Amino acid sequence: MKILVVGSGGREHALAWKLAQSERIQTIYVAPGNGGTALDGRLKNITLSDPLALAEFAKAEHISFTVVGPEVPLAAGIVNIFRDKGLKIFGPTKEAAQLESSKDFAKTFMQRHGIPTARSQTFAATAPAHAYIDTHGAPIVIKADGLAAGKGVVVAMDLQEAHDAVDMMLGDNKLGDAGARVVIEEFLAGEEASFIVMVDGKNILPLATSQDHKRLRDHDLGPNTGGMGAYSPAPIVTPELHARVMREIIQPTVQGMAKDGILFTGFLYAGLMIDEHGNAKTLEFNCRMGDPETQPIMARLKTDLVTVMEHAVNGHLDTIELKWDRRTALGVVMAAGGYPDAPVKGAQITGIPAETADTVTFHAGTALENGHLQVTGGRVLCVVGLGDSVKSAQKHAYDAVDAIHFDGAQVRRDIGWRALNRKH
Ligand SMILES: Nc1ncnc2c1ncn2[C@@H]1O[C@H](COP(=O)(O)OP(=O)(O)O)[C@@H](O)[C@H]1O
Ligand SMILES: [Mg+2]
Repeated sequence: MKILVVGSGGREHALAWKLAQSERIQTIYVAPGNGGTALDGRLKNITLSDPLALAEFAKAEHISFTVVGPEVPLAAGIVNIFRDKGLKIFGPTKEAAQLESSKDFAKTFMQRHGIPTARSQTFAATAPAHAYIDTHGAPIVIKADGLAAGKGVVVAMDLQEAHDAVDMMLGDNKLGDAGARVVIEEFLAGEEASFIVMVDGKNILPLATSQDHKRLRDHDLGPNTGGMGAYSPAPIVTPELHARVMREIIQPTVQGMAKDGILFTGFLYAGLMIDEHGNAKTLEFNCRMGDPETQPIMARLKTDLVTVMEHAVNGHLDTIELKWDRRTALGVVMAAGGYPDAPVKGAQITGIPAETADTVTFHAGTALENGHLQVTGGRVLCVVGLGDSVKSAQKHAYDAVDAIHFDGAQVRRDIGWRALNRKH
């Protein structure tokens, strides 16, 4: 069987790597892929990126189903295009992807269906936005409505920062269309976790829990990034909290979308803020898997992912169970020098250790040029270690990280600290 994976990051490498473990696989195409997918003999990179061209490729090559990694093609309607041609694809339609592509859509949706989230209001003009901030005070959170590649949220600790964010987005139009409207919301204190499920329109299959690390530097300092590391499971999500999140957030979301006439299919990712009493609120939805959460999650998945995906695209997620490696998987991102503002490209990467039973390296911003691996983007690698404890998973990951070299590499040394604290 042939499968197509759309995307080029660590998430897509991890999905393709897991799919390729199935005995039923003939070829997995990755569009456009990266240096890691180029090195894997079971995977084949293709340079197409336009959704229509990809659909024609899938038709001509008799692709059994397509899995979409990133949000941009989903928001552009790649699922609609594939389905119009009778092709199987796992992801939300353009309409359903609004849960991620418009924060205003998501907030209005959550308010309508009673899903716990921060109180908020949406603005298209600066004056009422400034007035709202003065009424509610700081800390307060300013969010661009549209997709902004992780650069659209300002958690303002004082009023000046909040007013500046409104001026930047609504006044100076710094984020373009994405910032044409802003959601201003109540600041929530607590600890974040990622809650990711698969949805086939009706049935919901939860994946293992995970937590990521957004800040560039140790101790959660420095600028926000796409994510500097992640691990699974996330001990903060106890079985009890898991059941509550399913009941209070995930099920009402899937049922609410169906009621609104927009069936949700694909990965659904709720970003949660969990307060000191263990109550969870939804910070946002993503309509795809997280990156880097996917890497440790896939490293722990024992069930054949091809079979899982078949159930998903055929609407049968109620008849499959997922089996997980009981160990902790912990992924450490190695980022390029200058990331996140101005990643330096072109450095040569050496020393990536071969995959073992307790380490695997997923590529993101890499390319294979004349047999050499080069840095081509901000997040370069995600090195995953597995172990019976968080500590041993961490040791396996960092042992591999320490063997890898490229000029300017930025690595956090404290991935997993929250889980370590909790277990002591
Ligand atoms: N209401 C809030 N209170 C406190 N922090 C928030 C709130 N909303 C978002 N954040 C912080 O900002 C980050 C980014 O916000 P999010 O809504 O996830 O947007 P995006 O991932 O699209 O940038 C979150 O991971 C969280 O750390
Ligand atoms: Mg987020």
